Amino acid sequence: MEKQSMRAYMKSLEEKGQLLICQREVNPRFEMGALVKRFNGTKAILFNKVKGYQMPAVAGICGDRQRYADLLSVDSEALVFPLMNAVAGPKPYKVLSSGPVKENIVRRGIDVGRMMPVPTFHEKDSNPYITAGIVAIKDGSTGKVHTSVRRLQVLGGNRLSVLIESPMLLDQVMDYDKRNKPLELAVILGYDPIFMVASQVNSQIFGLDKYEVDSALRGEPLELVKCETVDLLVPAHAEMVIEGIIPPKVREMEGPFGEMAGYYGGGTMQPIMEITAICHRNNPIFQFNFPSSSEHVLPNGLMREMFLYQHVRMMVPAVKAVHLPTVGGCRFHAIISIRKTNEGDGKSAILAALASNKDVKHVVVVDEDVDVFNPRDVEWAIATRTQADRDVVIIPGAKGSPLEPTHELRGVTAKMGIDATAPLGSLTGKFERTKIPGWDKFRPEDYFV
Ligand SMILES: Cc1cc2nc3c(=O)[nH]c(=O)nc-3n(C[C@H](O)[C@H](O)[C@H](O)COP(=O)(O)O)c2cc1C
Repeated sequence: MEKQSMRAYMKSLEEKGQLLICQREVNPRFEMGALVKRFNGTKAILFNKVKGYQMPAVAGICGDRQRYADLLSVDSEALVFPLMNAVAGPKPYKVLSSGPVKENIVRRGIDVGRMMPVPTFHEKDSNPYITAGIVAIKDGSTGKVHTSVRRLQVLGGNRLSVLIESPMLLDQVMDYDKRNKPLELAVILGYDPIFMVASQVNSQIFGLDKYEVDSALRGEPLELVKCETVDLLVPAHAEMVIEGIIPPKVREMEGPFGEMAGYYGGGTMQPIMEITAICHRNNPIFQFNFPSSSEHVLPNGLMREMFLYQHVRMMVPAVKAVHLPTVGGCRFHAIISIRKTNEGDGKSAILAALASNKDVKHVVVVDEDVDVFNPRDVEWAIATRTQADRDVVIIPGAKGSPLEPTHELRGVTAKMGIDATAPLGSLTGKFERTKIPGWDKFRPEDYFV
């Protein structure tokens, strides 16, 4: 079904005025990324003329919350629910004999840096990086397919380095090292937001086949085809698939690279990929995202919100909504609204949220009348419902994220919770919000031209 393709999705964005088309020539070194960063996921951008390349490039496809809500037919505040359903009820995918991604198969003379317009993003980045590649690897013990975005550094010719931080996948790489066997993988480029968000299920916690999660989310089987040189299935409608192996015990310097939190990550030795074939559609479009933009953090953040919601609900059943704002990398800041049924619910929600994930650093808990997606509303609650001596909780020296630079010891962090809820039962008394009857009806656009 062509509707599973990125092209079809781009067309729908164009019809809604959400795709910008750049006809002016852009340089893949800094210029292309700078333009993407300015829009921060609010628009998708197609670059038709990239200096030195025939292949166009697109970014911003997966960077907007409302687009996920539209695809999953829910309000953007309610995204946790379809994600929860897909994780709880994965559905079968479908294998086709061939598909558009097989229109061209390249096995010889592969040179990634020459073939595709891979951007260089920041001043101190070590090399151009593929940032939107979804890596598919078969789980050695279960045969389930694990997909995840891993940044790939262009090393020259048919070689890329792969940054793998998932403990589960790292174990698999090390196991293949020990057995001196190559690990097969395929990198998928040119997909829609559903394929992206399905890849972000935390594999350690859920252990699912991510193609089955995708099929459940899109409400129809994801269509797949067999790879040419490795034993893996990949989406039939992708723009491009890079096949290859991770050779055992080979490591190359990876980084520095401007990362998700807006700082450089230093160089470390990482596994590499040796490419065995590239399959692509006719006139393929290269997909990328800007590191630290909304597109870089939101897809993973949506899955994190789902997990946070479940975790807090175990302590405080009447949790209304949760939000991990993109400005905190969709992980450092959590905002939670609850309907308080017991005094102490605010503190319990803080404890649950801080314990839900090492990366959650600051938590604000508000009442049900506060919109967790509106920073002004949240700040109002902190300003008018918090007394610092009794409502701020600080936990020193907890395990945290290594991806921001404030710690004395990398990865060890103080955590903080702010209980910005009003005392139980006071929302209709001392803490009742002022209201204007008919507020929703009095819309400025009906009065002023
Ligand atoms: C745009 C984007 C870039 C990412 N880059 C990396 C990366 O370079 N290395 C990595 O280990 N995880 C990266 N992630 C996170 C993983 O894709 C994510 O943790 C994974 O899909 C969930 O599976 P896991 O539990 O096996 O990690 C990235 C996520 C997104 C959305």
